[in-house]
Amino acid sequence: MGVIKRRALYEFFTADHRRIERILEEATVYKDNVNLEKYHHFRVGLLTHIKMEEKILFVAAQKANGGEPLPLQAKLRLDHAALTSLLVCYPTPDVIKVIDHVMEEHDILEEEEGGMYEACEQLTQHETQQLLEELKSVTPVPVHPFNEAPYVLDVAKRTVKRAGFDFDAIVGASI
Ligand SMILES: [Fe+2]
Ligand SMILES: [Fe+2]
Repeated sequence: MGVIKRRALYEFFTADHRRIERILEEATVYKDNVNLEKYHHFRVGLLTHIKMEEKILFVAAQKANGGEPLPLQAKLRLDHAALTSLLVCYPTPDVIKVIDHVMEEHDILEEEEGGMYEACEQLTQHETQQLLEELKSVTPVPVHPFNEAPYVLDVAKRTVKRAGFDFDAIVGASI
């Protein structure tokens, strides 16, 4: 067995954040004419990333923490739910702006010093190799077509609100 890097899980997940951001950037060069093929890859990438966190990383950390969820877990799960519901909507400029904003804030909570990834990595330091193997074997999440019914955007707005964000305020902000 090779030497496991000290921050292997941190690096694995942050590299995936950068990869997903890049795909979104490429898909949304023209905000009112999104590249839907690339956007599809973004949706698969983000949903699969969320699956890796919720089904593997957070679960392993909670187990190693005596069954107690880490303090940040509840908020991060609400963010995941918000992002997931936004991904059901057609990617209008407003939807893209809110996804961008939520993702940026969310990734800070996971990546910053003392954030979720560091906490998870410390708790699971004796099973890093096994976790990496599990993470690398995760199958991509199948995504459904967009649902363009108006209620879908309302559902997304409510889910975004539960995570502590205001869809319309983000859209209205100048940056
Ligand atoms: Fe996350
Ligand atoms: Fe993440």
